[in-house]
Amino acid sequence: MARTVDSYSRTQKFLHWAIVVLIALQYLGGDFISEFEQRVRSGAVNAGDVPVLAQAHVVLGILTLVLVFWRIALILWRGKPAAPEGEDPRLKMVAHATHGFLYLLLLLVPASGMIGWFGAVSLAVDVHNLLTTLLGLLVILHIAAALFHQLVLRNNLMARNMPKPVMELLAPVFERISDIISDIRGKKT
Ligand code: HEM
Repeated sequence: MARTVDSYSRTQKFLHWAIVVLIALQYLGGDFISEFEQRVRSGAVNAGDVPVLAQAHVVLGILTLVLVFWRIALILWRGKPAAPEGEDPRLKMVAHATHGFLYLLLLLVPASGMIGWFGAVSLAVDVHNLLTTLLGLLVILHIAAALFHQLVLRNNLMARNMPKPVMELLAPVFERISDIISDIRGKKT
């Protein structure tokens, strides 16, 4: 089990956001490599003439895998913060499971893509496409949970994982939204 520390280190925060950016780019550019694969299958282009955006998808996928390994190694070596104080045990369980599945998918998505691409295994490509959808759904759940903690539970969870200057910039916005949510909830009860 990972050691408990007060907060994520700068490197852990950097890796989290670098992986977020890489994954966003992969979703945005995923169509280029799919289109290329289809055109190769239909004989419209030569398998060796890989367009630069398809090459970028492969390179960024490998980079994502390296950063995910680095992030996991840092958790094992340095540790990570415990669940927020007073967290409902059911929420704690959901967070634990979501983080576990996120890591699993962050490993399996690039790995299946690499097996599909370098090994020309079409089953691995199908698995890769399915897992990217699952990862997308899990990321939506994860973002919703982070916002729920920040805006409804108001426990400033996002400060643990956000660079300090960004958090200082966003704090008044979060405060304002939290107040609006509190007002709405107050009116309902
Ligand atoms: C591609 C998108 C994302 C992925 C794959 C991702 C992945 C992860 C993973 C695996 C963890 C667990 C960290 C650990 O236990 O070491 C984590 C933590 C966290 N993420 Fe994300 N994340 C994404 C986007 C976001 C976004 C957009 C936000 C903010 C809105 C966010 C906020 C957080 C916070 C606050 C934590 C810390 C939770 C805690 O300390 O309990 N993440 N993220």
